[in-house]
Amino acid sequence: MTHWRYAQGARAATAAGLALLVGCGGSGPEGPSPLPTTAPTTPEIAEIAPLVGAARASGRWVGSAVQANLLSADAVYAGTFARHFDYLTAEWEMKWDPTEPTPGVFDFSLGDQIVAFAEANGARVKGHALLWHQATPSWVESLSSAELQIAVDAHIRIVAAHYAGRVVAWDVVNEAIADEGGVLRDSLFLRGLGPDYIASAFRVAREADPQALLFYNDYNTEGMGTKANAAYELVKGLVEQGVPIDGVGLQMHVSARFPPRVEDVAANMRRLADLGLLVNISEMDVRIRELPGDSATRFAAQGAIYRDLVGVCVAEPACHAVTFWGFTDAHSWVDGTFGADDPLLFDEAYQPKPAFSGVEDAFLRR
Ligand code: XIL
Repeated sequence: MTHWRYAQGARAATAAGLALLVGCGGSGPEGPSPLPTTAPTTPEIAEIAPLVGAARASGRWVGSAVQANLLSADAVYAGTFARHFDYLTAEWEMKWDPTEPTPGVFDFSLGDQIVAFAEANGARVKGHALLWHQATPSWVESLSSAELQIAVDAHIRIVAAHYAGRVVAWDVVNEAIADEGGVLRDSLFLRGLGPDYIASAFRVAREADPQALLFYNDYNTEGMGTKANAAYELVKGLVEQGVPIDGVGLQMHVSARFPPRVEDVAANMRRLADLGLLVNISEMDVRIRELPGDSATRFAAQGAIYRDLVGVCVAEPACHAVTFWGFTDAHSWVDGTFGADDPLLFDEAYQPKPAFSGVEDAFLRR
């Protein structure tokens, strides 16, 4: 399994663990070969069966993260989302930094644009994310514990109330488990408020928006490893305390060299479901830059991973939604975080890849 470290302001991936599809250890003898390059043809909305039809056949919502600036500037981007997806997550615009950049001054303009687009296209919206150790304005870091509790409660209450009735779910707390050791992340929230900050965030969110589904969301918690076990114990404790939590988001940011074992993901989803919780795949992408072989080989392996992991969700009744962290290789956070890659369902010209077919096959149980 690949372990990530979110270093301050930057992200680096250190890959360690057992490969399942391709040999262990570093890249192949020739090293990572140049990425597949698709000749940039004029992007157009591909005339293919909408993915949402396959998802609905399996009773799932299928979504993607989107960026407000692209929705307004790129008709093919907007049209491709509208054709294939019915569940939308704001990639950035509803986080703390953009919504409350200075104390008590809220800016919902970009989030409102995204919600309006979703409403105009019949898509549901998941809010993301009320509390996250990143995307927190610097003014929050200088607060005393008492001031921090007031600021956190006010932020959650005001943002959740603003979107109440317009979002169906929230990632209330994002990435609260440390990368190593099975403990809570040493964040400003933990240091300032103690471990109860998590339960408190869910209570405030529920009070502000009684209708929204409230999720805990994290990465590298998809299978049955130390971090996944810590996330399971965290939410189990929340459920036992009567905290208003409805489910868990498994981000599913995958390296094709070290994908989680499908049987582990299935077992993890099942144990979360046994707590009475929903689960969802919340931010899926599959990095292939370190796979050996030509682009056709890599795209085929990528498609098989998408098929198998989305298939785990389709086989789990409590897994109600699958969201990808973007949908076109033209716009993925992966490029700036892990290095240039082609991790998504559509290529840079908005043409479907084997990854798209793999997801469609999973929904249709083909
Ligand atoms: C990322 C966005 O994709 C980037 O554009 C932004 O610069 C940083 O945040 N886990 C999460 C997401 O929960 O909010 C992150 O999104 C990716 C990792």
